[in-house]
Amino acid sequence: ASQWRGVIREYADRLDVSEATPVVTLGEGGTPLIPARALSERTGADVWVKFEGMNPTGSFKDRGMTMAISKALEHGAKAVICASTGNTSASAAAYATHAGITAAVLVPEGKIAMGKLSQAIAHNAELLQVQGNFDDCLDLARELAAKYPVHLVNSVNPDRIEGQKTAAFEVVEALGFAPDFHFIPVGNAGNYTAYHRGYREELDRGETSVLPRMFGFQAAGSAPIVLGEPVKNPETIASAIRIGNPASWELALAARDDSDGYFGAIEDAAILDAHRILSAEVGIFVEPASAISVAGLLERSAAGAIPKGAKVVLTVTGHGLKDPQWALRAADGSDVTPTSVPVDPDAIAGLLGLAPSG
Ligand code: F0G
Repeated sequence: ASQWRGVIREYADRLDVSEATPVVTLGEGGTPLIPARALSERTGADVWVKFEGMNPTGSFKDRGMTMAISKALEHGAKAVICASTGNTSASAAAYATHAGITAAVLVPEGKIAMGKLSQAIAHNAELLQVQGNFDDCLDLARELAAKYPVHLVNSVNPDRIEGQKTAAFEVVEALGFAPDFHFIPVGNAGNYTAYHRGYREELDRGETSVLPRMFGFQAAGSAPIVLGEPVKNPETIASAIRIGNPASWELALAARDDSDGYFGAIEDAAILDAHRILSAEVGIFVEPASAISVAGLLERSAAGAIPKGAKVVLTVTGHGLKDPQWALRAADGSDVTPTSVPVDPDAIAGLLGLAPSG
């Protein structure tokens, strides 16, 4: 068997690349689509999870970043810039350094997970913590890219969304059909837009016969699309999607309308419940923002919006190891502390409730 070649080489015929494009890849894409029996049992639907935490830097951003950095290089860029809640900066840093160019990243001070901050620093980015929120960072990045010779690699760069649409191609290939529903977290709404585009292209090519209904979820304290207006001071424990003025808002509304889709808001407590269910019952560890797909499915299922037997795919966007602290908090909010034991097998057996065998 040959090695997976990354999304540009795997899908070269469906992306805007040519012989002249220098392909910058870390082998992104080809992520698992995992049947989730526990979620199927809870909802009566057939549920699969697309685990995007399995990408090289631990999030779906790598699919778009391989395209954005390759195209930036093709255009002669020596430096790229982005605003980020953490994952985009980790990905931009890794791909830029792999390509031998500089990444400047602007992050909201004190508001991104430690794993993501560590990645950007490890991959040699020029990391600046802005005294503002993500929306301020994005405004700054756009302004800097307009005035100075740095190439913007946020999802307002169309190459990003093009690269990210490949995840929908993989879902269709893995299942042999398109699902009825696709659940996804929403921050800037770029990924929501990208999956819709991927599925739309599959339908138009005649590969599939349904267009999945795109169901996107924002955190309740950070839900501008649901509210219909920007949120000035967005708040949620799901730091990846703490965004008050989504860059791909208009595109996402068009994708919703085309797919008979939906946007919903989920409270932080329900996000953390879903995080526990996914970790403890399915065996998939994600960061809080990713768990909102699961929370959204449970909420919509309880509302009677998901028919029995419906084919449902959830994208979980980022790996749990980026922001692991949430696993150490119990459902009642108390800290989980591992039990300390002596070097004594019988004492350990007793704690595990084991009786001697035979
Ligand atoms: N999930 C995770 C883990 C993310 O990092 C993001 C966005 C999203 C979901 C939402 O995707 O913006 O396309 O709707 N993170 C960006 C970042 C903002 O800077 O890493 P979206």
